[in-house]
Amino acid sequence: MKRFTLLTAVLLLFAASGQARDNVLETRIEKAVKAMTLEQKAALLVGVWEEGGPSNIISSAGRTHGVESLGIGMTTMNDGPTGLRMDTLRKGYPDERYYCTGFPSACLLAATWNDGIVARVGECIGDEMNAYGCDLLLAPSLNIQRNPLCGRNFEYYSEDPYLAGHTAAQMVLGMQSRGVGATIKHFAANSQQTARVANDARLSERALREIYLRNFEIAVRESDPVAVMSSLNWVNGTRSAASEPLLTGVLRDEWGWKGVVMTDWFDPENTGACLRAGNDLFMGGNPRQVEDIISGVRDGSIPAADLDRNVRNVLRYIFRSPSQNGLVPTYAPDLASDAEVALEAAREGIVLLKNEGGALPLSGDGPVAVFGVGSYIWYANGTGSADVNKPHVVTLMDGLKSAGISVHPTVDEYYRSYLESEQVQLRETNTPTWRNWFFGFKRPFEARPNPWFLELRASDCSAAVVCISRNAGESLDRDYAEGDFLLTKDEESLIGAVCDAFHAKDKKVTVVLNMGSQIDVRPFKDKADAIVLAWQPGQEGGRAVADVLKGDVNPSGKLPATWALRYEDYPSSANFPVHYEFSWEDVKPYAPPSTRHTRNLGYTLYEEDIWVGYRWFNTRHKEVVWPFGHGLSYTSFDWSDAKVIKKTGDSVTVQVTVTNTGSRPGKDVVQLYSTAPETEGFETPLRELRAYAKTPLLQSGQSAVVQLKVPLGDLASFHEDCRSWIAPAGTYTLSLASSVEDVRCTVELPLKKQITRPVKASLAAPVEPKPTAVVLGDSYSTFSRQIPRGYRCWYSTSAKEGNDVREVRQTWWCQLCDSLGVDLVLNSSYSGAPVCNTGYHGADATSFSFVTRVEECIALHPDYLFVFGGTNDSWAGVPLGELKYSDWTEEDLKSFLPAFCRMLERIKTECPGTNVVNIVNSDLSREITEGQIQACRHYGIKCVSLHDISKGLGHPDTAGMKAICSQVLEAIK
Ligand code: BGC
Repeated sequence: MKRFTLLTAVLLLFAASGQARDNVLETRIEKAVKAMTLEQKAALLVGVWEEGGPSNIISSAGRTHGVESLGIGMTTMNDGPTGLRMDTLRKGYPDERYYCTGFPSACLLAATWNDGIVARVGECIGDEMNAYGCDLLLAPSLNIQRNPLCGRNFEYYSEDPYLAGHTAAQMVLGMQSRGVGATIKHFAANSQQTARVANDARLSERALREIYLRNFEIAVRESDPVAVMSSLNWVNGTRSAASEPLLTGVLRDEWGWKGVVMTDWFDPENTGACLRAGNDLFMGGNPRQVEDIISGVRDGSIPAADLDRNVRNVLRYIFRSPSQNGLVPTYAPDLASDAEVALEAAREGIVLLKNEGGALPLSGDGPVAVFGVGSYIWYANGTGSADVNKPHVVTLMDGLKSAGISVHPTVDEYYRSYLESEQVQLRETNTPTWRNWFFGFKRPFEARPNPWFLELRASDCSAAVVCISRNAGESLDRDYAEGDFLLTKDEESLIGAVCDAFHAKDKKVTVVLNMGSQIDVRPFKDKADAIVLAWQPGQEGGRAVADVLKGDVNPSGKLPATWALRYEDYPSSANFPVHYEFSWEDVKPYAPPSTRHTRNLGYTLYEEDIWVGYRWFNTRHKEVVWPFGHGLSYTSFDWSDAKVIKKTGDSVTVQVTVTNTGSRPGKDVVQLYSTAPETEGFETPLRELRAYAKTPLLQSGQSAVVQLKVPLGDLASFHEDCRSWIAPAGTYTLSLASSVEDVRCTVELPLKKQITRPVKASLAAPVEPKPTAVVLGDSYSTFSRQIPRGYRCWYSTSAKEGNDVREVRQTWWCQLCDSLGVDLVLNSSYSGAPVCNTGYHGADATSFSFVTRVEECIALHPDYLFVFGGTNDSWAGVPLGELKYSDWTEEDLKSFLPAFCRMLERIKTECPGTNVVNIVNSDLSREITEGQIQACRHYGIKCVSLHDISKGLGHPDTAGMKAICSQVLEAIK
């Protein structure tokens, strides 16, 4: 009792001192907010775009602005998910190189199912951040591996939200225990790279909450990360970075998280909307965003309270960051000891997928014949921002040799000389360009050793190993193509020939897979005796694989994602891009309509809903090659005595005893899945992962008691109609399993009372995406910098710069679209643009301009089309270039109306569902005005004449614009 009292007192004291610290911090923040000018606040919310800053290491991913006069320093952010990513150069030390440890990829870390080792990796990354003066890591990435072709799967953890969220939480806890910050990213539904900035993930609220937000919810709940990075993509029609329901409603109001939200490294089209939504920081940062914030606050479109709220969030992060609290970088991380942690992690996550006839561990006399260019060109991790500048990479070949495995020298020589000659061919292609760095260097084709050579090796070697490798990363998804998801013919025939030769001599063949995600294993899954999934295992990976092959390490990794039989079997396969040709246009915020309106590019329908990965395969009893959670061991385990040992109002604790019944020491993983009682009209997956634990290393005959605790609230599913998470009363089955399909024991859990957790934010998918409107022909739309940042815009003609955005925000069409509640997609002018850019000379030029623009409009299939029929410089309020409307020749005027009619005809026939209104604004020629009105009547197109409203008095005032809007609205009705 006495001890308890003392402990309580210490805890209270600790809490009180924590509270006092928080109070001091908040007072400091308030003081700073009061002292800052609008310009300083705006600058603080936008990342630093130029090189420089406090760290002496060149090239961080980004920095925050400092305000020297207020004692606010700059902070430094670096990627990433497989270790600290930075350049190797330090200012003033041209001859030195500064490396960071390349840890195993996230997919491997998830496959460890081992909290301890993941946290340990996090600690090491935290130590290296401190050593190099980095405040915030832009990791972990925990998006759902929805489809095997997602280019970033190697930096994501799992197809299951619990495994992804819980693994990410261990990483964050480890890292943040060192005083630095972690960023969980990319929030949310960022499961595709193709057209990554344009893509709109369209999914049900249930799928969003149960799958694509659940991972983040668990990570937030379990580890309280310093930062969240909003994603590049859109979610249900709203850019994530501008989604108030996501960034404020869910993240802060529902989950109670208080950190800082930043954008991903791009330039969202609407600074104000992102800021208001709760996106605090704009990264990497663009000076224009500072301007946007200043002008937004001045014109009232950004409330000052929102600005201050975001400034507070950013200051809270800055004031707590290591660099602002006296951290002095040593530039001397303990890379040797971190390498051992990288090795240990790799050993824990390698998955033994198949092992027949005692193929592994390698035994027997004689050397091993090692085939495959992948044994030499080995991927420690994927490409893009998660690539680390590591001191070295231990390839499979290096690893085998250093583990003392005898490798047949002639095979080794054959591959080395083959690769050397291949490198000659690749020399010109594989230059160190940004593109190659991002998308990966070309690799040589697979070698095809001769059959008689294989026969010889089958005679004098004890076994064969064939390595197949794949690489992928940010910005580009993988393809359903040979050399990617599919084996190349050369790879297929290599494995086939090696298996034939070695099996003929009764020798075993092991296939090692060096990749971050699934491939098609049909060509070899039955032929190979053993298959080892090495993943992209970090800089020490080759050593770890060698240890497993040799048997020094007993594999204990388990699959964090299902390996299906065919690509088509994956539930998302119908809704994922394949055979995509990369285009820079597609990664611009203003992606062209051809991108935005194309399925799987501009938008992706998550038609599989919550049935992602094993939720689909397991519930529907679909055959797979290896199920979620699968992984073999060199020993065997017996599970016994499963029971509920504790049940409170909030949680249940289940226990099972695991005994090593084999002859080798090993570790096992206990996976706990729940099955909900049946509810009529509401289907839930057959099993859902709720908890897991890995045993310590168990010697032969040794047992461990494994306890797993599940919060009862986690048993709930999301019911859209009740807007609540609900776990109905009834009997739940808790399955203790070795994979989702290998249930070892079950316990029953009666729940007497239904659990209901209502939600506040509405993330409902629009049944139909927001309607779109196109303005065809307002010369305002032709000026790039004028595009109001509140609109999803696309424009096609060469644009003019230097016009004022604020002015355009007030234009009639912005106001009109606001009143209609539609998304405005700006198309270019057929009148203004040709006049100023191509010249309005003769019918040909005109019709060419007409046709191109109209075609673009048709391709957009807008719900509303506002044709701005005719223009003049006084209306537009801006000079139209050399040629003015008033300069039109007789001939120009004559050719206008026929071209105009041709346009109306096309619109009428090719946009049948579109609500078209022609707005006549020509005030210089009564003839054209009348002509337009008549033409519209002829084609049955609504028409409003501005001539009567504005009387040709130039840019209308507010009243004038209101009048235009109400006329057009009236016409639409
Ligand atoms: C990636 C982020 C990364 C950022 C900074 C972006 O392209 O999507 O994951 O953190 O770059 O490097």
